[in-house]
Amino acid sequence: MKLDDVISTPAFAADPFPAYRELQEKYPVQWSDSWNCWVVTRYDDVRTCLQDAKRFSNVGRITGLFHRLFDPAQLAQLKPLIDHYSHGLINIDPPGHTRIRRLLHEVFRPSTIIRYRDFVQAFVNEALVKSLPTGKLTVVRDLAHPLPVHVIARLFGVPVADVPLFTAWSAGIVAFMQSPTPTLEVCLHSQQALLDLRAYLRRGILERQTTPLDDVLSLMVHARSEGDALTEDEILGTAVTILLGGHETTTRLLTTTLLELARHPEQQESLRRNPYLMETAVEEFLRFAGPFHRDQRVAAIDTEIGGQHVHQGDFILLLLAAANRDPRHFPDPDKFDLARTPNRHVAFGFGPHICLGAPLARLEMGIAVGSILQATKSFKVASDQIDWEFGFLRGPRELELELRN
Ligand code: HEM
Repeated sequence: MKLDDVISTPAFAADPFPAYRELQEKYPVQWSDSWNCWVVTRYDDVRTCLQDAKRFSNVGRITGLFHRLFDPAQLAQLKPLIDHYSHGLINIDPPGHTRIRRLLHEVFRPSTIIRYRDFVQAFVNEALVKSLPTGKLTVVRDLAHPLPVHVIARLFGVPVADVPLFTAWSAGIVAFMQSPTPTLEVCLHSQQALLDLRAYLRRGILERQTTPLDDVLSLMVHARSEGDALTEDEILGTAVTILLGGHETTTRLLTTTLLELARHPEQQESLRRNPYLMETAVEEFLRFAGPFHRDQRVAAIDTEIGGQHVHQGDFILLLLAAANRDPRHFPDPDKFDLARTPNRHVAFGFGPHICLGAPLARLEMGIAVGSILQATKSFKVASDQIDWEFGFLRGPRELELELRN
C-alpha cells in the first residue's frame, strides 16, 4: 500500500486507522512524496524518535517546511514567522530545552492547575444550562471550542471581551500547519496573526513585570530557577505554543470523545453509572480519540529507524494516533475500552517535549465529559454524517448531539 494513494481520500479522513494498521504491518517506515517525509507508525519507533533528541531533533521541524517550499525572496517575506519558529520551547533540543522546561515546571505545578477547576466547571455548567432545555448540544460551537480558549485566556489574564481576538489569532496561526504544502498566501496570513498575538502578549508581559496578576503569564514573567529567568522571547514562544497546543487539541479531543461515547452507548452508560472510572477513561479517550495525529522531527544525523536508513535533514512524521493503536503494544487496539489499564499512550507525546499542559487537558476533559454524563440519561449523534477536519490534528468540524434528560 502507498500512503500517497490514500492520503487525500475522504475515506482516509473518516477512518485512517485501517490504513495505519496496514502501514504498521507492512511498511512501518514509509516515504511519502505528498508529505515529503518519512512516515513512522509503530509504537516503539515513534517513542524512540520522541525520546532520542540527539538523532531526531526538534530544530527545523517547522522552519524546514518554509525552506523546502519557498524561494529566497518569499523566505524574506516570511522572516518574522521563520524567526518565531526558530526559537522557543518546542523548536529546540536539550540542553537549551531542558533549561526552559525547568523554569516552566515552576509555573505549571499541580497547585497552579487545580486553581482552574472551578472556572472549568462553571463554564461547562453554563453551556449545559443553555443546551439541556433544547435537548440538543452543538458540541464544537457551544462547548469544545469556547471552553479551552476561555481557559487559556484566563491563564494569560485576557479579559473576556478580547477572547474573540484570541480565537481568531489561534485559527490564523494554525492555518499554515493544516497542510504539508501551504501556499505563501496562507503563510503570510498566519504570520500576520502571529505578529498580532505577539504584540498583544508583549503588552501583557510588560504590565506584569511591574504589577504581577494572579495568572500564568505573571508566573512565567517572575519564574526563577538557580538565578535563571525566562527571556521575553521565550515567554512569547511558550505562550503561543500554549495557545495553539492547548486550544485546538482539546477542542478536537472533546468532540471526538463525545462522538465515540455516542457510538458506544454501553461504555457511555457504564461511565455514567461509575464516575470513579473517569481518570482511567480519560486515558482511553486520549489513546482512542487523541487529536494529534502527526508529530514531526528532523533527522539530526544519518541514522536508522525501524530498519530504514534516513539521511541527516530528512523530515520524519510520527503518527501518534497510529502508534496508539499498535497491536504490538495495546491488546485489541480498536476496542474503545474505558477500563483499559495499563494505557501508556503517546497522545501527549513522550520524552523531553511531553505535553506541558497534560494535567490541564485531563482536568478539562474529566469535568466536561463527567458533567454531560451526569446531566443526561443518554445522548446520541443527530446525524452519522461527520465532516472530518484532518491536518496534523484530526476531529469533526461540528457534532450535533441529541440529549435525553
Ligand atoms: C488534548 C489536549 C492536548 C494534546 C493531545 C496535546 C498534545 C501534545 C503533544 C503530542 C505534545 C508534544 C509535541 C512534540 O513532542 O513534538 C505537546 C506539547 C506541548 N503541549 Fe500539549 N496537548 C494538549 C493540551 C495542551 C494544553 C491544555 C496545553 C497548555 C495549557 C499544552 C501545552 C503544550 C506545550 C507548551 C507543549 C510543548 C512542550 C515542549 O516542547 O517541551 N498542551 N502537546
